[in-house]
Amino acid sequence: MHSMKQAPPGSRALCTVLAARAAPQRVVWDGRAVVVWMVECDQPAVIDDRCPHGNARLSDGYVLYGRIVCPLHMWTFGADGRAQAPSGRMEAAGPMPQSYESWISEGEVWARVDG
Ligand code: FES
Repeated sequence: MHSMKQAPPGSRALCTVLAARAAPQRVVWDGRAVVVWMVECDQPAVIDDRCPHGNARLSDGYVLYGRIVCPLHMWTFGADGRAQAPSGRMEAAGPMPQSYESWISEGEVWARVDG
């Protein structure tokens, strides 16, 4: 889904690719917050911006080998929203982040966020 003439229903542009390459981006609308980052140069990822371990904002973290790293205790998350804990122990305080299908179109990161 890399070149798309028409936006599919329920999708929206979240931020520019340039911004997402520079740092993880927090995007909020309708009370929902997601974090946008780049797994690779042209491959975005979008998941809920909330660490299930202790509710930190993942957008305050950083990207390492394509995964986003929580700033508090270094849990890492892939584009599928699945977590890995440095200790191997996964004691979550909340649900794992939902992941959203995402792609690049015309210099912006898009995601299917509704439905
Ligand atoms: S709050 Fe994210 S790893 Fe602890």
